[in-house]
Amino acid sequence: MYQTFGDGQGDSDSQGKLSSLKLPILQDKAVLDLGCNEGFFCNVAHEMGASKVVGTDIQAEMVYKAGDRFPDIDFQLQDWKDLADMDGVFDVVLCLSAFHYAKDKEQLLSDIANKLSDDGLFVLEAGIVEGDQEEWVDVERFSDTVQHPTKTALDNLLRKFFSIRCAGPSVNQKGDPVPRFVYHCTKLKPVALIISGKSKDGKTTLAHMIGARTVCWDHIFTKNKLGDTDKIDQITDQLIKDGKADDLVSMVMEEVDQISGLVVLEGYGFGLLPIQKELEDRGFIVWSTIRS
Ligand SMILES: C[S@@+](CC[C@H](N)C(=O)[O-])C[C@H]1O[C@@H](n2cnc3c(N)ncnc32)[C@H](O)[C@@H]1O
Repeated sequence: MYQTFGDGQGDSDSQGKLSSLKLPILQDKAVLDLGCNEGFFCNVAHEMGASKVVGTDIQAEMVYKAGDRFPDIDFQLQDWKDLADMDGVFDVVLCLSAFHYAKDKEQLLSDIANKLSDDGLFVLEAGIVEGDQEEWVDVERFSDTVQHPTKTALDNLLRKFFSIRCAGPSVNQKGDPVPRFVYHCTKLKPVALIISGKSKDGKTTLAHMIGARTVCWDHIFTKNKLGDTDKIDQITDQLIKDGKADDLVSMVMEEVDQISGLVVLEGYGFGLLPIQKELEDRGFIVWSTIRS
């Protein structure tokens, strides 16, 4: 027996692990537990008033036992490699003491990110070996050999899909010498950096130094034949005074939609147009800077 319930002591300190997870309020949330075992954490979510709880495990015996313990909860016999086929999205996804079993860890994280609601939380509890290098280390345990990452390796992998925060240590696991940690991961959001100011302020140089894909006001101005580029600032002012701001914003967004990740918007027009709201409505985190 792995999990610990009132009727039996398992190998894992389930209550101690629960405290380490620092779970958010789960009331009215949809919760998915990957590698749910006998359903301890699914039951926690159910008792906290989650609106939907699904537990999946690859071992039929565990799914059967979990269903027996908690008949009101939806337990499914499923390999997490089939996660992409599952219907719906979840506000909270748990993967506890199980990530080391994943054969394709990057694919699993990608699938989890796709199953998370936009403001959802992925809670990972996993082993981390000591070391400064980015590496995955074979660790011999009482029953098998698994790979655990260094902190750098885990952070770099998680950061491909999530913004991450280490929420602290978890409980030790009998038979596994590697300390466990809890990560709270939220979906990566696109980021826009607006660099505005007058012509000749050095905006283009700064954007170039940042090295991200850039949406440049001068380029939009020229491409859409808005006027003489020598008078770009005055013409931009006039277009906005003439009530053309919405058209200009559409031109900008056409360019923004071609880029993923970090978008730098550089140019005079971006200080004047209601770009920030438009970007935020599209889920961007917006940063803004002008020369002091
Ligand atoms: C060490 S137990 C952890 C159980 C539970 N998450 C906890 O922390 O108490 C790991 C669980 O992951 C499950 N598991 C391993 N590989 C899996 C896979 N590919 N898909 C779904 N579950 C898997 C195992 O069957 C086992 O129940």
